[in-house]
Amino acid sequence: MVSLLENPLRVGLQQQGMPEPQIIVIFGASGDLTWRKLVPALYKLRREGRIPPETTIVGVARREWSHEYFREQMQKGMEEAHANVPLSELWQDFCQGLFYCPGDIDKPESYRKLKTFLRELDEQRGTRGNRMFYLSVAPNFFPEAIRQLGGAGMLDDPYKHRLVIEKPFGRDLASAQSLNQIVQKYCKENQVYRIDHYLGKETVQNLLVFRFANAIFEPLWNRQFVDHVQITVAETVGVEDRAGYYEKAGALRDMLQNHLMQLYCLTAMEAPNSMDADSIRTEKVKVLQATRLANIPNLSRSAVRGQYSAGWMKGQQVPGYHQEAGVDPHSITPTYVAMKFVVDNWRWQGVPFYLRTGKRMPKKVSEISIHFRDVPSRMFQSAAQQRNANILAMRIQPNEGISLRFDVKMPGAEFRTRSVDMDFSYGSFGIQATSDAYDRLFLDCMMGDQTLFTRADEVEAAWQVVTPALSVWDAPTDPASIPRYEAGTWEPAEAELLINQDGRRWRRL
Ligand code: BG6
Repeated sequence: MVSLLENPLRVGLQQQGMPEPQIIVIFGASGDLTWRKLVPALYKLRREGRIPPETTIVGVARREWSHEYFREQMQKGMEEAHANVPLSELWQDFCQGLFYCPGDIDKPESYRKLKTFLRELDEQRGTRGNRMFYLSVAPNFFPEAIRQLGGAGMLDDPYKHRLVIEKPFGRDLASAQSLNQIVQKYCKENQVYRIDHYLGKETVQNLLVFRFANAIFEPLWNRQFVDHVQITVAETVGVEDRAGYYEKAGALRDMLQNHLMQLYCLTAMEAPNSMDADSIRTEKVKVLQATRLANIPNLSRSAVRGQYSAGWMKGQQVPGYHQEAGVDPHSITPTYVAMKFVVDNWRWQGVPFYLRTGKRMPKKVSEISIHFRDVPSRMFQSAAQQRNANILAMRIQPNEGISLRFDVKMPGAEFRTRSVDMDFSYGSFGIQATSDAYDRLFLDCMMGDQTLFTRADEVEAAWQVVTPALSVWDAPTDPASIPRYEAGTWEPAEAELLINQDGRRWRRL
């Protein structure tokens, strides 16, 4: 990471390894994310003594809540979602730092009122003008919120004011570019934290260590030894109560363009010169710029979408996407997407990367698997010597860990072979590898470290790759033409074909 002397922003924001007291303003504070993830993450940091007691949280949303009511809601959320967290005296103290300021995203007077309130809080809480503005609102409100914050002079100080923007950042390349222009009008890039919570996961950060801190893997990590790579993020949940958001987003915008493409970048990029934010992000941009969908003129050979139909999950019957509350019965929003990327560079030319993500899959599992080339030799070809190619699997969640599959000889007189796994599990550390990731991201942002956040050119380069699919899929079409998969099963047949056409199979997880 960059040293303090190299980065004045970090000097401004941290003292002795701890961030300076600051006010975290959450826009969209009445939404689920605030009580489910954001406030619990901040409380966790407080419990662990990693943020100062003066840290103050101000919720902003349209509803006319009082400070007291906001505190009650947060406490209820903590009790529901984090039943194992004792709500101790420390929680009571933390609660005293929670405030609420009702306001409308598009009304200048709301920002004037907020600005005055934050100044009062500075006096009361000793937060010294340090601010983090966290946009946890529907993505269509991002431009207005930034314009209003900027217009009210609340983003003026490049050292004390930070802007955190949830994903998806834009709906496509053009809207991401235009959002970046708005952001750049009011902020320096070093004030901007585009969040992708996958980057806060331990197992995702470990990809850099695994690849670049071990001498034995990097020499194999290329087209000479790798046949193909699969990246899977499967979820068992359906659309839940988020139809309002999800109907406009769908699996490509909600998951693939951000979470899966971050996993892709960390797997495919070159080694950065150092571990500082810009070296890492520059390498990600370079690999994205070399990436394209495998077959753009014949899109179905490189991109498949799907929607879940009614089915069974853990013995329970569940509705299809079209029957979910708030979903248009003629919706064409995909709940599943699979893509085949190719990379035009020296390392990966000819090695396809298959990415897939879907809701209502049989299992919640995120994994990156590197499938190595088969051996050239004909030595082991009998039925008893069924050979499998070597696979290196990096389990992002759950059962976090890494395994390497290889063949061994079964004990006995014959030459019978069998595949076995050499396995590392994070469980062996005796500590949980995955937190919700928001605590780590909050702390980094409070400290001014942008390594785990997406840079402007990076988010645009990611959109660029998927734009050919978006431009076809956004066009109106007969809903019956969208491939279906039954809830509780893996991908639609069309997605099987996407990989089978190359003589390969999706890994069964
Ligand atoms: C969010 C998506 O970004 O990630 C959700 O909006 C999805 O639709 C979630 O369920 C998955 O995150 P995780 O950490 O549970 O894999």
